Amino acid sequence: MPLHLKRLLMTGVVIVSLFLLLKHALTPDSFGQYGHYRGKALNEIAALPIHYVGSKSCVSCHDTIVTMKSEGYHSDLACEGCHGAAYKHIENPKTEKLIKPDSREFCGKCHSINKARPEKAITQQNIQGHNPGKKCVICHNPHQP
Ligand code: HEC
Ligand code: HEC
Ligand code: HEC
Ligand code: HEC
Repeated sequence: MPLHLKRLLMTGVVIVSLFLLLKHALTPDSFGQYGHYRGKALNEIAALPIHYVGSKSCVSCHDTIVTMKSEGYHSDLACEGCHGAAYKHIENPKTEKLIKPDSREFCGKCHSINKARPEKAITQQNIQGHNPGKKCVICHNPHQP
């Protein structure tokens, strides 16, 4: 075999061996346990603190509001979408208070006029012009607007 081909072959062998060696050394031990990811990642994620509990968890203490909301325009919205994560609140309702987002800006996040938002999906309102200076919740009950 000519010398230049031998050199090429040797370089190839060195590169491939180096790749295999590094792959062996750098792959985490639980990789591939269940699929193409670290098996241990599942335990790590499961150990993260819980934040959200879901709207069903509010029924036991706030049934009137849950019923009211289910009959109105906001029936599809999650309680925690407006009030924030409630895991701590359901454990200690007296000390862990949730936010009550009653500002005009908050309602405007969904209802202000926005060309990118389909008008059929969500009613848009000129937030600057529609009863300015007054909180929306004076006239619209947030749980049944
Ligand atoms: C174990 C009963 C219990 C559960 C479950 C519960 N709450 Fe409450 N919540 C309370 C009590 C009691 C208060 C009144 C606390 C106070 O004013 O001292 C309260 C107050 C509130 C307030 C008003 C806070 C304030 O500053 O006035 C909001 C908002 C609220 N809850 C939302 C929720 C949401 C959303 C859920 C479901 C994710 C929920 N709660 C689940 C018992 C509960
Ligand atoms: C569109 C946003 C929105 C959603 C969705 C929503 N809330 Fe509220 N909630 C508010 C606002 C804003 C207030 C404050 C109202 C006020 O100050 O008059 C409030 C007040 C409350 C209060 C305090 C009541 C009081 O008289 O002060 C409780 C309890 C509550 N919400 C529970 C819930 C529960 C339970 C759900 C789900 C079934 C829910 N909310 C869904 C916006 C929302
Ligand atoms: C997360 C998005 C969201 C937020 C925040 C929100 N809404 Fe809504 N709202 C909706 C959706 C979705 C509907 C149902 C579709 C519709 O009718 O536009 C609705 C419906 C309404 C309607 C009935 C509109 C109609 O068709 O006649 C009123 C009024 C209203 N909301 C007022 C409020 C007020 C006041 C607040 C603030 C306390 C608020 N909304 C916060 C999403 C939101
Ligand atoms: C002084 C009382 C009052 C206040 C404050 C108020 N609204 Fe209204 N809103 C009304 C009345 C009455 C209507 C129905 C007649 C109309 O369309 O003007 C209405 C209608 C709406 C509609 C439905 C429009 C439609 O085309 O069907 C939405 C959405 C709405 N308001 C959102 C808001 C939001 C968001 C705020 C706060 C930024 C707010 N409103 C503040 C009284 C009020």
